[in-house]
Amino acid sequence: MTKQIHLAAHFPGVNNTTVWSDPQAGSQIDFSSFRYLAETAERGTFDFFFLAEGLRLREVKGKIHDLDVVGRPESLTVLSALAAVTTHLGLAATVNSTFNEPYELAKRLSTLDHLSGGRAAWNVVTSWDAFTGENFRRGGYLDKADRYVRAQESLRIVRKLWNSWSEDQLVLDQAAGAFAREGAGAFADEGAHFDIRGRFGLPPSPQGRPVIIQAGDSEQGREFAASDADVIFSRHGTFEAGKTFYKDVKSRLSKYGRSEDSLKIMPAVTVVVADTDDEAIDKAAHIREQQVSGPTALVLAELLWGRDLSAYDPDGPLPAEDPVVGSSVTQGRVGYNDPFPIVAEWRAQAEAHGWSLRQTVINQQNRQTFIGSPATVAEAINHHVQEDAADGFVLVPHLTPSGLDDFVDRVVPLLRERGVFRDEYAGTTLRSNLGLQV
Ligand SMILES: Cc1cc2nc3c(=O)[nH]c(=O)nc-3n(C[C@H](O)[C@H](O)[C@H](O)COP(=O)(O)O)c2cc1C
Repeated sequence: MTKQIHLAAHFPGVNNTTVWSDPQAGSQIDFSSFRYLAETAERGTFDFFFLAEGLRLREVKGKIHDLDVVGRPESLTVLSALAAVTTHLGLAATVNSTFNEPYELAKRLSTLDHLSGGRAAWNVVTSWDAFTGENFRRGGYLDKADRYVRAQESLRIVRKLWNSWSEDQLVLDQAAGAFAREGAGAFADEGAHFDIRGRFGLPPSPQGRPVIIQAGDSEQGREFAASDADVIFSRHGTFEAGKTFYKDVKSRLSKYGRSEDSLKIMPAVTVVVADTDDEAIDKAAHIREQQVSGPTALVLAELLWGRDLSAYDPDGPLPAEDPVVGSSVTQGRVGYNDPFPIVAEWRAQAEAHGWSLRQTVINQQNRQTFIGSPATVAEAINHHVQEDAADGFVLVPHLTPSGLDDFVDRVVPLLRERGVFRDEYAGTTLRSNLGLQV
């Protein structure tokens, strides 16, 4: 059976995909930027608009780094504003379960679902590190092994609160002066992390259960996704890695009594489109040069090596030392569990091609997934989905806010022609547009 593709737009964020220094790049903070990308995504009938969350600016040896965009407004606030200027687009907020209380989470997400008529999604992330925790009164208090215990408990309670009003408890009888029936919103819960009781102040939102997204990649993260999530936002955008991940996660669903369709796998990918494949390849190389400046190459290499490499020339050879596992040279970024085989591969490739350190980073950390003419890109995307390397993709543009214009204007029509992507929204809620059980 031909699968329908799902698409989401990621607002460019604090990372080295985003090229904020490009003359065409706009503000990361002005509402007009968010609105522009959301309207582009809605014109392209995307499933949802996605906002990541960074609770602390990343640092390199105590300094904010040159290519990291400074400034990322709070997701739910921005999405609530976007709810007023969009009509069908899903609105997905990344919000940390470690540093928020379930009651607040339930209320804020339910509010977005009410305001948007059923378009809210929560990307449950679980950062636990002391570096992020220093921003909060609970700095570093959570053991790494506990991050998913707390996430799972938070989600269970959030769902309980969303369901704390039964259908008939909201009376709204003006003549009788009856607003709600006795017992509406009452809840109590006790677990390893929370012991709470009270009343939840909002009746069920249009979706009842806003869509749950999960982005962790560890064994625990995958299990959490299989038991509780509707969508996985993964890193595995290449065809082979995508297929392996897809098979792994989908095979975990049956033990939770879930069908394979009930969890959509949407890797983060980047797209470079031009008139011809050759032009797109040139354009992609130019973007990579912008993304990986000399200082950025050093930072990315430091992340792999776990060492201070500031004495190295990015245009010179690769460091001769061995990597160090578990160092905190670069804070706020995900490191490598086993850097040795990657360093060996980088060395082999650098030697074979005569690459400098910077050229090695540019070529070995190739973040562009789909490069080519509109027809080439449409074909590749459809191939990945039909062959079960993904159910769709979260597109991460390098430019704010115009980075998806070409995709929406030139690739989406070709996907529609192939009958693998919607012409218009069929449902009114995000859950229904994603083809998830209501
Ligand atoms: C594609 C992707 C996107 C992510 N985006 C965010 C984010 O915006 N904010 C955040 O705090 N963590 C983010 N994370 C981190 C994870 O959700 C998770 O908290 C972290 O990876 C630890 O879980 P793990 O050990 O299971 O991977 C992201 C992870 C992935 C794979």
